[in-house]
Amino acid sequence: MALRTIRLMGDEILTKQCRPVKEMTPRIETLIEDMLDTMYDAQGVGLAAPQVGILRQIVVIDVSPEGDDPIVLINPEIIETSGEQTGQEGCLSVPGKVGIVTRANYAKVKALDENMEEIIVEGEELLARALQHEIDHLAGQLYVSKTKDGLHDLSEEPEE
Ligand code: NI
Repeated sequence: MALRTIRLMGDEILTKQCRPVKEMTPRIETLIEDMLDTMYDAQGVGLAAPQVGILRQIVVIDVSPEGDDPIVLINPEIIETSGEQTGQEGCLSVPGKVGIVTRANYAKVKALDENMEEIIVEGEELLARALQHEIDHLAGQLYVSKTKDGLHDLSEEPEE
């Protein structure tokens, strides 16, 4: 298990566009393993490669209660959304803070898996939110720019 350093808001790398992955390599396999380790260690539900300083289109997500259902998405692309949800969001790159963000309630994503085979992942609610949040990271976007009323401290979260 290898943990990578999570880059924090203010780090330029979090504002940059990521490049697609063209082929699976041992280096990228290791990166994906490390991203999963780093996400679980930080008790996050998602992590994007730029958050560990790598400008590649890779995200990992696990919204399962047990943390035993990882999703790995390479070169992910949102191909369909519907509905709307408004709720609290946080990010491992913005520790201790949360904000209210409106997103699609359903998202359908086309991506490659670790074997570079095409997969479709669909999700509602928390999974849809995680898919949209993580894919935003690959375009250099943080949820912070989408909050309705700015950031709040995690300890004084609004009652809703
Ligand atoms: Ni994030």
